[in-house]
Amino acid sequence: MKNRIFSGVQPTGNLHLGNYLGAIRNWVRLQKDFDCIFCMVDMHAITVWQDPKELTSNTRMVTAGLLAAGIDPRNCIVFNQSQVFAHAQLAWIFNCVARLGWLNRMTQFKEKAGKQRENASVGLYAYPNLMAADILAYKATHVPVGEDQKQHLELTRDIAQKFNNDFGVEFFPLPEPQILGEATRVMSLRDGSKKMSKSEPSDYSRINLTDGPDLIADKIRKARTDPHPLPDSIAELEKRPEADNLLGIYAALADMGREQALARFAGAQFSDFKAQLTDLAVASLGPIGEEMQRLVRDTSHVDKVLREGAERANALAEPIVRQAMEIVGFLKA
Ligand code: AMP
Ligand code: TRP
Repeated sequence: MKNRIFSGVQPTGNLHLGNYLGAIRNWVRLQKDFDCIFCMVDMHAITVWQDPKELTSNTRMVTAGLLAAGIDPRNCIVFNQSQVFAHAQLAWIFNCVARLGWLNRMTQFKEKAGKQRENASVGLYAYPNLMAADILAYKATHVPVGEDQKQHLELTRDIAQKFNNDFGVEFFPLPEPQILGEATRVMSLRDGSKKMSKSEPSDYSRINLTDGPDLIADKIRKARTDPHPLPDSIAELEKRPEADNLLGIYAALADMGREQALARFAGAQFSDFKAQLTDLAVASLGPIGEEMQRLVRDTSHVDKVLREGAERANALAEPIVRQAMEIVGFLKA
């Protein structure tokens, strides 16, 4: 069977450099060699409260980001989850396949629910079953995800395996995670020990894809560093999280290894290094940000891409989910 890639991103908040280097840029590269399906997972988003208007605009914004970064809807399928009913349908079946004990082990639920566990939505708890449905509704074989999603992918494999065993079929493939590339964990510009994140209150902790050149320059100028020049070995660099992060960002944007980037800047003062990092960041992110701004204003185009993507996604998922329903013993419609 041909490799089929599925991945999802939550349409919550603005896209930042971490999303770009850790996820979207990899997707852009994958679309050349594989059958790819990229999904704005709006049904996952509502597992925590979303203002309806913001959910709508964020769905368009994140789609615009993907398109601006180079995801080509002629090469792959781009759509939002809620338009394809197969996801919810299969998720229910998986709610009945997955065991409570499995979900109780999910660290993301524990983190997100925190101390307010009794007050978390049932959807937040069942979230990994919906994610398994996203992937398996297309019989996807490969799933590019960040490190944080590996546990959910293992659960997806357990669900596929249990479904196959319970019903004595070889129906669902066991999808493989694809953890991509080096330097994919981008840290906060304010604190090298924290991930760059959209939920961090300070906007100066991240570079958003929509930030213009002046703002990018200002954020890099104000990024936390230490008083020493850049070291000449990776071992030394790794003792200095902020320096390591900025050099990692440079290397990722320049598409080179960290060693190579370090060789270029060993002994340099931060002021010089930051100026070059700014030039590189503006040159590579500027055009994406501009195109994104343009697309965000062209809602009818973005909506059309999503609608057409959903039709194509539905054509793939519906027959698979219908077959799964027959295997379960549901009467044929
Ligand atoms: P999130 O913004 O957490 O919904 O993540 C969307 C995608 O971006 C996921 O594939 C994450 O793994 C990736 N991502 C988010 N933040 C970072 C970061 N700071 N560094 C690298 N990848 C990230
Ligand atoms: N849970 C993923 C995240 O928070 C998003 C996601 C939902 C996903 N469904 C998916 C990723 C299917 C890969 C495949 O980042």
